[in-house]
Amino acid sequence: MLTNHGIPEDLMRDVLKVAEEFIQLLVEDMENSSSNDPGKKCRLYSNTGFDEEKVHLWRDTFRFSCNTLKDHVEEWPNNPTRLREVIGDYVARVREMSLLLLDLIREGLGLESGYFEGDLSKDQLMNFNYYPPCPDPSLTLGLPKHSDPQLITILNQGTTPGLQVLKDEQWLALDPTPNAFVVNVGHTLQVISNGMLRSGDHRVVTNTYAARTTVGCFIHPSSDCQVQPAKELIKRCSIPLYKTFTYGEFVKNYVKDNLDGNSVLKRYELSQAQD
Ligand code: OGA
Ligand code: NI
Repeated sequence: MLTNHGIPEDLMRDVLKVAEEFIQLLVEDMENSSSNDPGKKCRLYSNTGFDEEKVHLWRDTFRFSCNTLKDHVEEWPNNPTRLREVIGDYVARVREMSLLLLDLIREGLGLESGYFEGDLSKDQLMNFNYYPPCPDPSLTLGLPKHSDPQLITILNQGTTPGLQVLKDEQWLALDPTPNAFVVNVGHTLQVISNGMLRSGDHRVVTNTYAARTTVGCFIHPSSDCQVQPAKELIKRCSIPLYKTFTYGEFVKNYVKDNLDGNSVLKRYELSQAQD
């Protein structure tokens, strides 16, 4: 949980509000506005990424690229009319904060200055998640157990509870702290840190009484960027635990493995016996 981050409370509230308004407009016209194509930069979907035959998720998501305003602003929705303005401000501030956070993580890991700058943190995705009230929360989840594939996630989870994290094989509720962000270590950071930082499994449960809107920002490498355990860490103290991969290929496997219910990192693990 990250507090004292300097992003104004008003802006944190506004972004949830425009996200909720926007997604409700889209959901009313779900047939025309949804897409199951993961390659699309800007799309609304329900249930994708997991086995739709087995799991019916209680969530609608609108996802779009937002790394630099000038590259993407034309792709963003324009209704409600304040959306581009609010998101533009929010995205820029979250990015600045994330890069600072990554630099502190870099320092903590003892990596050279600027390690996460450039291609490793080049891209940023944004999700508007909308979880409608559910008549029977025992029958479904908003989002099943997963870890995020990116470098780090900055989640603004509003005021309605629902997020849970897995700790010692138990699900713990991570109830909202006012104006705090939830920061997740993603698989990519786990690989770069050679397992020193571990991605956390989490899920979202539903409730009967209130809709829940959340806004996630995901900082991630460009798709042709090579990801591997940091050489400095390997040199200092250990053997690499993971193979090198390109980020784009990794994400494709992540989507596939979630569908298969496998752990995506498994296929990139090097066994201790190898050198
Ligand atoms: C996600 C996620 C949690 C939430 O989008 O990857 O874990 O509370 N969201 O919406
Ligand atoms: Ni997640």
